[in-house]
Amino acid sequence: MATILGIESSCDETAAAIVVDGRDVRGNVIASQIELHRKYGGVVPEIASRAHIERLDSVVREAMGQARVTPHDIDAIAVTHKPGLIGSLLIGVTAAKTLSWYWGKPLVAVDHVLAHVCSPAIDVDPAPWPAVGLVVSGGHSSLYRVDGFDRIERLGQTIDDAAGEAFDKVATILDLPYPGGPEIDKLARRGDPTAVEFPRTMLGRDSLDFSFSGIKTAVLYHVNGPGKTSGGLENLTDQQIADIAASFQESVVDVLVAKTMRALDQTGLSAVGLSGGVAANSRLRAMLEATCQSRDATLYAAKMGDCMDNAAMIAALGEHKYQRREFATLELDAAAR
Ligand code: KG4
Ligand code: ZN
Repeated sequence: MATILGIESSCDETAAAIVVDGRDVRGNVIASQIELHRKYGGVVPEIASRAHIERLDSVVREAMGQARVTPHDIDAIAVTHKPGLIGSLLIGVTAAKTLSWYWGKPLVAVDHVLAHVCSPAIDVDPAPWPAVGLVVSGGHSSLYRVDGFDRIERLGQTIDDAAGEAFDKVATILDLPYPGGPEIDKLARRGDPTAVEFPRTMLGRDSLDFSFSGIKTAVLYHVNGPGKTSGGLENLTDQQIADIAASFQESVVDVLVAKTMRALDQTGLSAVGLSGGVAANSRLRAMLEATCQSRDATLYAAKMGDCMDNAAMIAALGEHKYQRREFATLELDAAAR
């Protein structure tokens, strides 16, 4: 049983967590930068890096305070080293290397997306593998076959926009605040999901890849008129905008659920893990749960608080690497991809 300090700074969340035994989350602090980036309508990398520098120290201290641990109690430091914004990743990696050297504790390098994949397992004992893992976030939409914490195989991924990116871009078209995913989720509740028939891009018959750029363009032209990129929104009523949000969300969710079922068919598995920021979407959770139930598959959805970027998932996956003695050296570098 190990006590792991996790550090996450790959995008616009500065986070630290203390996790014991890969499941017992004793301290968990997430400093969101949403307010800093909102007026720019997206994450500004330079602002993100600077905020990580300013906040990481106190975020780590706070997580350790919540868990009532001292450096002496910590067995290893796990840090996100890829993928993400390179300047942001470097802050976390540099901090983790410094603490590793200063405290004399091993360093563990964690892949952010694989940590999302494993996040539904945090409070499930025994772990829910083997399972199909659907990871949907601002940067990724991928399906995995997960046979263990160290046996994760990618089955498919987006060939253009990620699901969260599509939510964020459509929210911009509808003039909703950043980040758009939660805003569309909220607005869609009073819209009619059948009002507009947006495309559901399924790609090849057996494909487990995703494509969301077509639907984003379809929303753009539906709002502004064919071939036009602006000027249409003011002619729409609030109800029409809510209908567009609901119809867009329905088509993205339809594709995500259909492809996940395709992955179950192809692998013969009967469990699904759902994670990543878009896993917080209420319609996706409900539809995936109902569809899994209808075919006797079990859905393991990351808890709402574990969907967005966090360091508990980094420490949790770090525990498994720690147990396998998969340590990084102080040469560890950050990698954008
Ligand atoms: O995992 P995450 O925090 O960061 C990345 O690794 O990308 O995911 C952030 C993404 C954003 O695109 C955000 O709009 C989306 O998750 N998101 C949602 C919801 N909550 C967050 N998308 C749809 N519905 C939601 N409720
Ligand atoms: Zn993420």
